[in-house]
Amino acid sequence: MKITVIGCGYLGATHAACMAELGHDVLGVEIDPRKRALLAQGQVPFHEPGLGELLAKHVASGRLRFTDSFAEAGAFGALHFICVGTPQRPESLGADVSYVDAAVTSLAPHLRPGTLVIGKSTVPVGTAERLDAVVSAAGAELAWNPEFLREGFAVADTLQPDRLVLGVRSARAEQALRDFYEPCIEAGSPVVVTDFATAELVKVSANAFLATKISFINAVSEVCEAAGADVVDLARALGHDERIGPRFLGAGIGFGGGCLPKDIRAFVHRAGELGVEDAMSFLRQVDDVNQRQRQRVLQAATTMLGGSVTRAKIAVWGAAFKPDSDDVRDSPALSIAGKLHLRGARVSVYDPAAAETARAAYPTLDYAPSAIAAAVDADLVLHLTEWPEFRSVDLATLGAVVRRKQVLDGRNKLDLEVWRDAGWTTRALGRRTPALSPARLALVGPAA
Ligand code: UGA
Repeated sequence: MKITVIGCGYLGATHAACMAELGHDVLGVEIDPRKRALLAQGQVPFHEPGLGELLAKHVASGRLRFTDSFAEAGAFGALHFICVGTPQRPESLGADVSYVDAAVTSLAPHLRPGTLVIGKSTVPVGTAERLDAVVSAAGAELAWNPEFLREGFAVADTLQPDRLVLGVRSARAEQALRDFYEPCIEAGSPVVVTDFATAELVKVSANAFLATKISFINAVSEVCEAAGADVVDLARALGHDERIGPRFLGAGIGFGGGCLPKDIRAFVHRAGELGVEDAMSFLRQVDDVNQRQRQRVLQAATTMLGGSVTRAKIAVWGAAFKPDSDDVRDSPALSIAGKLHLRGARVSVYDPAAAETARAAYPTLDYAPSAIAAAVDADLVLHLTEWPEFRSVDLATLGAVVRRKQVLDGRNKLDLEVWRDAGWTTRALGRRTPALSPARLALVGPAA
């Protein structure tokens, strides 16, 4: 099919390249000239594994092109996907839908009758209802088809989504989307057909649920710490209950990124506008618990450094909000690094992919070219984004460059037993104290 993708940021660029891979002819509309020029050369303006190859392949094959012209888009596409961002508004917790509105109103005069406009952006419930009037007046039809891709796995999530939610108003729109996604449906992606409002709400509910799961385990981790229990063992045991499941029970410095934090806030805000704020007020606590994790790390670091971080040298491993991404929006790692710097610590940050985006966001921090370089003369190593390379750092080399062998694992992903055996003082959120570790007890015997 001939489709357009309006907005070629994270979501749009991935959708455009993946839909070309599924065999469709794709025209991407991107108004930022720098991004458009890069994309047109087959280059991805951000870090996403596998996307560069796909984009280059289909730019070369001619199945994927880019433009800034809505007139060209209207003439080209039978299906138009709206993929622009909906950031948090500066003055409130609500989502800024002005980019969505602008995309639809810019496209509307050029829409051919009978074509379909499909919203993929994450929006407050009721947005589709409002935009329907604009699209219908142009003789086209609206559908809402939220996106559930994760950064770092965006290509796989888009080529084989774990569900397709189709918010539609006619059998014709449903059929057009089923035809469009046929390869995914054939390969097993389940389809849920529903109304606009439910489709919009599925997306924010999914993110709110994930955020709640993370904050739940983080809240429990604080109790674990107070009680001498171990949150990693606890999460493993919880995860064996099929009703709970093991994923998103990773305790640590909490969630960040361009989606979970702003989506829970926008959900509370929208519920308030609908007169049901109390129903969603627990999400404020989810947000609070999440922010609290950052404080817990700052407190633990301060304690490890003898009561003050001033003038201490701290190596921060990780800047991205999660591994396999260069996204530093609302990144817990960078926020902690920034606070330590403000309190007078000498902070050296290393991230395998996010140095450039981090420097743009926090220009006053020092950035090192490797994990070891960041740790030279360090009094403390902070592990804040769980890139795999941090788990395989050579501890002998590291031990030789630091000033004090102290590590704080903010993601509960390092094998701290090994670090301790190499002479390091370790700390983690919600882990039992080393003296009580069963492995250690087995090693030294019950008498110890
Ligand atoms: C999230 C959702 O997972 C996607 O389904 C959704 O499509 C996307 O938002 C979106 O709205 O566009 P993403 O922001 O890429 O995807 O990242 P996640 O994998 O959800 O991780 C979010 C944050 O939670 C990260 O900071 C991560 O480190 C943290 N996290 C995740 C934990 O702290 N613990 C965990 O156990 C899991």
